[in-house]
Amino acid sequence: MSEPFQFDGRVAVITGAASGFGRAFAHHAAALGMKLVLADVDQALLDETVEALRESGAQAVGVRTDVRDAAQVDALANAALEAFGKVHLLFNNAGVGTGGFVWESSARDWEWLFGVNVMGVANGVRSFTPVMLAQGERAHIVNTASVAGLLSPPAMGVYNASKHAVVSLTETLYHDLKNVSDAVSCSLLCPAFVPTGIANAGRSRPDDLRNDAPLTRSQQAADLQLQRAVRAGKLTPDDVAKATFDAVREGRFYILTHPQILASVKLRHEDIETLRNPTDPLSLKPEVKQAPQ
Ligand SMILES: NC(=O)c1ccc[n+]([C@@H]2O[C@H](COP(=O)([O-])OP(=O)(O)OC[C@H]3O[C@@H](n4cnc5c(N)ncnc54)[C@H](O)[C@@H]3O)[C@@H](O)[C@H]2O)c1
Repeated sequence: MSEPFQFDGRVAVITGAASGFGRAFAHHAAALGMKLVLADVDQALLDETVEALRESGAQAVGVRTDVRDAAQVDALANAALEAFGKVHLLFNNAGVGTGGFVWESSARDWEWLFGVNVMGVANGVRSFTPVMLAQGERAHIVNTASVAGLLSPPAMGVYNASKHAVVSLTETLYHDLKNVSDAVSCSLLCPAFVPTGIANAGRSRPDDLRNDAPLTRSQQAADLQLQRAVRAGKLTPDDVAKATFDAVREGRFYILTHPQILASVKLRHEDIETLRNPTDPLSLKPEVKQAPQ
């Protein structure tokens, strides 16, 4: 797989495509001449995104998909094949977040975050990888995790755990694919805070998984901290999309858009290697640290 990945004329499927990174991936893919299949739970924003891409001359279809649901992701794969015959690039990107002390997270918080962030990625891998392998052409999967998949900052326990699952799933996928194919591979995207809709993820939360209880103090503080950190993010979704497409083109697995985070990753690895108790990853970033009460 030494030749650079070719985008022009190939087919990309993107989940969480109506906002943030997903929408930036879509515009980037269109500019590279790709055909697009866009999936999101937000029908109105999805329609808007598809319309804007078509107006710019791209071939794009939208398929409302809740990635938590295995049958809907199977239907997305079928819709992509019906529309364009093949799939060359899949972004398992839809994701949501909550915050607060880990023991205060409700059963519904766990179900929602693991449904979208973990099962969404698992469903994408399960539905699309066999299609890609059967095509016998170059194809690539990009799973969006987070630096929260490499570190465990306080008051983000459910999100951290879900993103660690995506990291492990994707590293395993890399090895599994290497064992059977020279044509299909994958990358792992681990961004830090970037201004997108993520701090307002509750807008897409299904009614049956909303909490009845009011937010605890730790949840309110974590919400506030997330809003501030996301707003203060210096990179744009477009910067993240560019870094991601560069990595796919060059066949790089780890996509770390904020390399300064590596100092905290090293500390964490040292904690493990020396059996030292865990260092708070935010201790290297005091401007973000604001312990929940
Ligand atoms: N923005 C950041 O700071 C940041 C940092 C690290 C990782 N991430 C990850 O990036 C990914 C994209 O998030 P974003 O920052 O662009 O946020 P965003 O809220 O702007 O976009 C997420 C999209 O996912 C969609 N979505 C939510 N639930 C869904 C479901 N069940 N099925 C299908 N679509 C669903 C939303 O409607 C939304 O359009 C997520 O996996 C997120 O965890 C974001």
